[in-house]
Amino acid sequence: MKDIYTLGIESSCDETSVAIVKNGREIVSNIIDTQIPIHEKYGGVVPEIASRNHIEAISRVTKKALEDAKMTLEQIDAVTPTYGPGLVGALLVGLSYAKALSFAINKPFVGVNHIQGHIAANYITYKELEPPFLCVMMSGGNTQIIHVKDYTEFEVLGKTRDDAIGEAFDKVARVVGLGYPGGPKVDKLAQEGKPIIDLPKTHFENMDFSFSGIKTAVINLHHKNPEINKADLCASFEKTVTEILIENVKKAMKLTGIKTIALAGGVSANSYIRKAFMELKQEGMEIYMPDLKLCTDNAAMIASAGYYNYIQGKRDELNLNAIPNLKL
Ligand code: KG4
Repeated sequence: MKDIYTLGIESSCDETSVAIVKNGREIVSNIIDTQIPIHEKYGGVVPEIASRNHIEAISRVTKKALEDAKMTLEQIDAVTPTYGPGLVGALLVGLSYAKALSFAINKPFVGVNHIQGHIAANYITYKELEPPFLCVMMSGGNTQIIHVKDYTEFEVLGKTRDDAIGEAFDKVARVVGLGYPGGPKVDKLAQEGKPIIDLPKTHFENMDFSFSGIKTAVINLHHKNPEINKADLCASFEKTVTEILIENVKKAMKLTGIKTIALAGGVSANSYIRKAFMELKQEGMEIYMPDLKLCTDNAAMIASAGYYNYIQGKRDELNLNAIPNLKL
């Protein structure tokens, strides 16, 4: 069978990334141009600045992705950009660029849901992984438990009712003075602390999440007692959110009978969460998690998801719009 090469484009937030992936599973090139140093001084992503920087980076990053792959545009089978969810201005840059490319080379144009991309990061890391499985999707904008029924068929079993887990990490980091992006900094500091501080958990009958209560509890504890051990606070925060994630995953397992769990999204790079989920193997679960570099935003995962959309026959018109709150 002929090999299929998809060219993924990702610009939903603060990473401009272009990748070429072979048959949905093998990275041929994956260029990630991060804007983190640009947004750091503002303490978070400034949407307008993100859009402008995507515009400046997109041609250069695409050229580099083709160079690294030693391929020409003519060898690409489909152009597969993220079209949501994300920041609308940022999304529009990658999406418009992808439309122009697809038109110029006369190859199919296939939009990709960013969340589907995060799930697909697992297919690149584990060549043998196939649906069905449960996915714990945890990023800066989303926290969901997803029943991945097939490569392009999903059912959301539970989701956050307020903050995304990544937002909570970033907020905790800001409050204790660690800066942006907070997740990796909380991760590092927590390794020096002990999870000895009691923090509240919000439970629901179903598999929904709420992270605003624990976030506020951390903020209040720190404000009332600025001398509190920050490493212990970070370690306690990580332990409590991990327990919440695992509680809900176990409910999903009970409901579906599926014991294969894949992690996805930026927060799945967290070392405490990764270790805690790995320990679930002792309870008979199969656990998958993307390579660290594929947890946060990148176009390889988008090209992988794009491949599965493409082989299922999905095609989009060039009037496809960016959808900031796109659902799975
Ligand atoms: O998936 P992602 O790159 O972007 C979205 O699609 O939202 O996720 C970004 C989020 C940020 O909130 C960041 O702080 C968090 O992932 N993150 C982490 C770690 N690395 C990134 N959170 C906890 N521990 C980490 N090691």
